[in-house]
Amino acid sequence: MSQELDWASLSFGYHPTDYNVRCHYRDGKWGEIEVSSSDTINIHMAATALHYGQEIFEGLKAFRGKDGKVRIFRLEENARRIADSARGLMMAPVPEDLFREMVIKVVKLNERFIPPYESGASLYIRPLEIGMSAQVGVKPAREYLFLVLVTPVGPYFKEGFRPTNICVMRQYDRVAPKGTGRWKVGGNYAASLTAGEHAHELGYSAVLYLDPKEKKYLDECGPANFFAIKDGKYITPESESILPSITNMSLQQIARDMGIDVECRHIPLEELADVQEAAACGTAAVASPVAQVHDLDTGHKYIISKDGQPGPVVTALYNRLRAIQYGEVEDTHGWNTVLDI
Ligand code: PLP
Ligand code: COI
Repeated sequence: MSQELDWASLSFGYHPTDYNVRCHYRDGKWGEIEVSSSDTINIHMAATALHYGQEIFEGLKAFRGKDGKVRIFRLEENARRIADSARGLMMAPVPEDLFREMVIKVVKLNERFIPPYESGASLYIRPLEIGMSAQVGVKPAREYLFLVLVTPVGPYFKEGFRPTNICVMRQYDRVAPKGTGRWKVGGNYAASLTAGEHAHELGYSAVLYLDPKEKKYLDECGPANFFAIKDGKYITPESESILPSITNMSLQQIARDMGIDVECRHIPLEELADVQEAAACGTAAVASPVAQVHDLDTGHKYIISKDGQPGPVVTALYNRLRAIQYGEVEDTHGWNTVLDI
């Protein structure tokens, strides 16, 4: 089946693969890892995941390198973050070793779906955890399922590395000020659908959310963090209501390695008038350059890329990140797990 895949034309969608791996939490402990070739799950109709949103997930990628080796990017950070998300929703945290074992296993089992180096595509890894116990009272479940599926993917934004326009719409919030934004909770994405679809209908690739308390500072950009280059510095929002992006964290380190100062702080929307480059960043988005930010409430347009091309710093950061992920340069920070396949 994989021979029929047109790797270079893959979009960011679901393509079936051979296996997924699963583990159940029952009687206060995690069980054995199960390998499944079914892409459905059997769930009680009163499960907490279905009624009260006990669902968390992760997103990470495996890359086929120039040297033919397979690398998984920063899996320990995703393991840490899903355990944080679990604590946030009173779910059973998946131990880091179990997360690691299951992610490596599912990638190896689906090796034939890892896109070739030349395609620029990757294998997206989607771990998820759901509350399984039947419960009608609003209480945390006692039983959980942790599952890891994979699917080969291309770019998240169809424009790839070409700059796109994004918009600010104050009538929508994705999360509450001290709510679940810092965790990777399915409900946050449900809450973003109306705004996201509205923005797409108007021709924007994503919504740039403002902080939900004051609507003054930049928060994040749909399913990605946001950063900008201002007078040679990398600036990115500090906020309690955004997901701590592993890509953003990595790009900040790469920037420092290149001698670029990094500021993680509140960024008022109006400061966009003074930035020279900007991008949305995330596992799916990688670093997607931003051309213009349109404030749909005031009508103001922040023109970031005057010629519609990606700027030099965003391009250099993007190239360096991809080079590490595809094993083209030395992984000096030890971010990759290199598989023995
Ligand atoms: N913010 C949100 C809301 C996201 O869904 C994602 C995607 O995972 C990110 C940021 C980027 O995080 P990461 O770089 O860890 O993928
Ligand atoms: C990711 O970048 O991994 C995401 O989870 C973003 C989105 C597809 C939900």
